[in-house]
Amino acid sequence: MFQRWISQSVVLVALTAAVFTAQSTRADTVLITGANAGLGLEFVKEYAEKGWDVIATHRRSDVPESLAAIVRDHPKVKVERMDVADLASIKALATKLKGVPIDVLINNAGIYSDRSGCQTENCGGKAGKQALGSMDYDLFDMTMAINVRGSIAVSEAFIDNVRASKQKKIIAMGSTNGSLTQPLEGSGGIAYRSSKAALHRAMQLVALEEKPQGVIVVVMHPGAVLTDRQLNLFGDGYPGVISPEKSVSGMIKQIARFTLDDAGHFIQWDGAVAPW
Ligand SMILES: NC(=O)c1ccc[n+]([C@@H]2O[C@H](COP(=O)([O-])OP(=O)(O)OC[C@H]3O[C@@H](n4cnc5c(N)ncnc54)[C@H](OP(=O)(O)O)[C@@H]3O)[C@@H](O)[C@H]2O)c1
Repeated sequence: MFQRWISQSVVLVALTAAVFTAQSTRADTVLITGANAGLGLEFVKEYAEKGWDVIATHRRSDVPESLAAIVRDHPKVKVERMDVADLASIKALATKLKGVPIDVLINNAGIYSDRSGCQTENCGGKAGKQALGSMDYDLFDMTMAINVRGSIAVSEAFIDNVRASKQKKIIAMGSTNGSLTQPLEGSGGIAYRSSKAALHRAMQLVALEEKPQGVIVVVMHPGAVLTDRQLNLFGDGYPGVISPEKSVSGMIKQIARFTLDDAGHFIQWDGAVAPW
């Protein structure tokens, strides 16, 4: 009887130790939206290099070559489809990933324009699609659906995954283009700029709601970053631009140090406080 009790206890202790070891040795997991280009792609590369479990999401019908190339070097990177403007697509991935802890959820997907023709306030004398007098309201609605609703819906759909993780962090990619407390540089960009202002407020509210659950929600400004698309839109001539590598390695450093004291704050890639 005593011997049986001893052997049962030994098995129990061994099982508990195995579960504990599996949990404590599990690599941290990051899920990134809009991961096939620009800052999202750079996040994938850098977290993969660090040995994280990376869930790289994109909205294309086929796996983008940019992500396929990373998977060849980093087989732990999982590529999943998720269009953040499509609630069914978000729900489908959340259902697939039910029970998978997500330490860092990065709401990165965003659009500035529809990439067709002139977008800004002054295009060689012609008004752009985001200026009064020539507003494109389909573009406006799409910008809101992706930049604002997308980040809220993704945060909501994956909240249990984040709550179940060790780090419990949600990042939203804001922009000082949405800052209301600093002077504007030029007019135009109405859809993009107002979407970022709305995103900031939305994520402040999510941060407030989730803080009691231990979830750290932070809005980040990546800097003015010269991604491939920025290069196509604006050329490389505007002042203060930084490389995607500099921006993303800076943001990853900041994300690693965030605690609940940072919840609801707006932080730049280099750790400086960004203006609301
Ligand atoms: N670059 C900057 O200077 C800067 C400054 C401040 C803030 N930001 C913000 O940082 C984020 C990344 O910017 P970026 O410069 O890297 O932009 P980017 O190069 O244009 O990349 C945007 C990414 O978002 C994806 N995306 C767009 N709509 C989507 C949707 N409905 N569902 C899923 N993915 C979608 C794009 O996918 P497709 O390839 O399929 O279009 C792409 O992968 C954005 O939120 C942007 O507003 C950037």
